[in-house]
Amino acid sequence: MSKTVFLPGGAGFIGSHVAAELLTLGYDVVIADDLSNARGDVIDRLEQITGRRPAFYRIDVADRPALTAVFDAHAIDAVIHFAGFKAVGESVEKPVAYYRNNLGTTLTLLEVMAAHNVKELIFSSSATVYGVENEAPYTEDMPRGGCTNPYGWTKAMIEQILEDACVADPALRVVCLRYFNPVGAHESGLIGELPNGIPNNLMPYITQTAAGVRKELAVFGNDYPTPDGTGVRDFIHVVDLAKGHVAALCYTAKHTGWEAINLGTGRGTSVLELVDTFASVNAVPVPYHIAPRRSGDLAVCYAATDKAKRLLGWQAEKTVADMCRDSWRWQQHSDKL
Ligand code: UFG
Repeated sequence: MSKTVFLPGGAGFIGSHVAAELLTLGYDVVIADDLSNARGDVIDRLEQITGRRPAFYRIDVADRPALTAVFDAHAIDAVIHFAGFKAVGESVEKPVAYYRNNLGTTLTLLEVMAAHNVKELIFSSSATVYGVENEAPYTEDMPRGGCTNPYGWTKAMIEQILEDACVADPALRVVCLRYFNPVGAHESGLIGELPNGIPNNLMPYITQTAAGVRKELAVFGNDYPTPDGTGVRDFIHVVDLAKGHVAALCYTAKHTGWEAINLGTGRGTSVLELVDTFASVNAVPVPYHIAPRRSGDLAVCYAATDKAKRLLGWQAEKTVADMCRDSWRWQQHSDKL
């Protein structure tokens, strides 16, 4: 019998790619999403890609009766929790909304999981939990905290909540996946990132600039202590990231307790390297200018990947050129969807 996996927030950028992997591998997939930062036709696209349609509920995951109805309707074996607000800048302006939403969805989910005796949970965490006091490469045993914004704190706090829940219930199986910088899109060109308004993140800003939607990319700072002076990040292809979730699901099926695991490539790429690679592999110009540093940004951020290799038997395979090609394909298709 195939395993039923519940994806709160599963219509979003990362959730939809995980859903595509799971459906392709024969898992039954149930998605709940309020579509506050996703589109409902993602469900049709998943069916187009995989030939299988996930069950879909348009609900707020913090709405306990609505969430309970989903757990009553399906024999859920495991949960991969993506539901949450994710814009760093917005979290500084609306901290209460971020704490209410990100913590609230998680707490309701834990209560409803407990009521239905569901023990397996994978959580969308972030490299942001390493804060400003640690130095790259980040290893999972480094202390959490020193986050520079409320969004980051919600991730650190939720990790703590999950750790505490595992102490109290030794049957729980929780993996917090700490994402580095997810970019790229499914190679079908049918699903990808759909930023609301002006993108905050680098890759969607690059693709929109290349497409002429934005005039020029602002490169935030060229005086960092890095080889070319611009920020260095660990960009990871979203399809590699999705495969890391499947590996984590196999892991939680066999191990109890709490673990945090990085999902990154272990390689740093600078902002200008990414811009140059994008322009050359896609043969499209990306106009840019150098602007002042953005507050809260780190100079360098990349993952130690040994733990993911050791515990999950997973490592990223796609190159930065693949990420640039697939992001560009998606930018060109998404206009027409
Ligand atoms: N950048 C620019 N111009 C832009 C946007 C970004 O130069 O228009 C630069 C940033 O200064 C940074 C790099 O590109 O050096 C990457 O910036 P992103 O905003 O794409 O990503 P961040 O590394 O700042 O943030 C990401 C995730 C967050 C997460 C954080 C820490 O988006 O969710 O990593 O792990 F919290």
